Amino acid sequence: MRNNFKLISFNLLACLALLVSATSHAAQPIPANDMGLSKGSVFDVPEPKVSHYPSTAPGESSVLPRAYLGAPPQIPHDISDFLPITAQTNMCVACHNQPALRGGNPAKGTVVPIPVSHYTDHRIPHAKTGDNLINARYNCNQCHVPQSDAPALVGNSFSSKRKR
Ligand code: HEC
Ligand code: HEC
Repeated sequence: MRNNFKLISFNLLACLALLVSATSHAAQPIPANDMGLSKGSVFDVPEPKVSHYPSTAPGESSVLPRAYLGAPPQIPHDISDFLPITAQTNMCVACHNQPALRGGNPAKGTVVPIPVSHYTDHRIPHAKTGDNLINARYNCNQCHVPQSDAPALVGNSFSSKRKR
């Protein structure tokens, strides 16, 4: 009986010790206001800061560094007068469709011609490069976008050695 009593109290002590160590090792809870990308209470209605897109006219800006080799280049100039792109009007094509300039190294301020890849239908195996822009490339803003000065919500340390 005495031994049983000793065993029970030993077990109880061991359980208590386990409980204390488990609670002291528990992860610290993240405060609710720090959880989302928008810092603050979920009951707040925050006003996003106003950001600006480049207002530099085509011909006056400089090409931007590419994120990685093969990445669609970002648009360095103002495009507010060229949108929307419709079936009837595509101002981007009007300026950039310059097959004769392809392969050169465009001087600063001159149009960068639309590359060969946009005249080749990559959905067809061994497709030949034609004279016409492939319709799948017609909506330029699907891939090419200007950059606003809004700070990144989440930091990004991605880097690629080969860019162009
Ligand atoms: C009035 C002529 C003109 C129009 C219209 C125009 N661009 Fe441009 N674009 C240029 C010139 C010139 C440059 C070279 C940079 C500079 O000098 O501004 C350029 C640069 C670019 C570049 C960078 C290329 C690189 O290699 O980094 C992209 C991408 C681009 N334009 C896409 C577009 C898209 C998409 C549209 C339509 C929404 C458009 N452009 C409308 C003249 C034009
Ligand atoms: C499906 C995505 C996509 C669409 C749509 C698209 N592009 Fe591109 N573009 C790319 C990619 C990817 C590159 C870089 C690789 C390459 O050169 O093919 C590029 C490269 C370019 C370049 C840089 C050429 C150079 O020599 O530096 C210009 C200029 C350009 N595109 C203009 C346009 C215009 C104008 C349109 C609309 C008529 C357009 N693109 C539509 C994906 C796209």
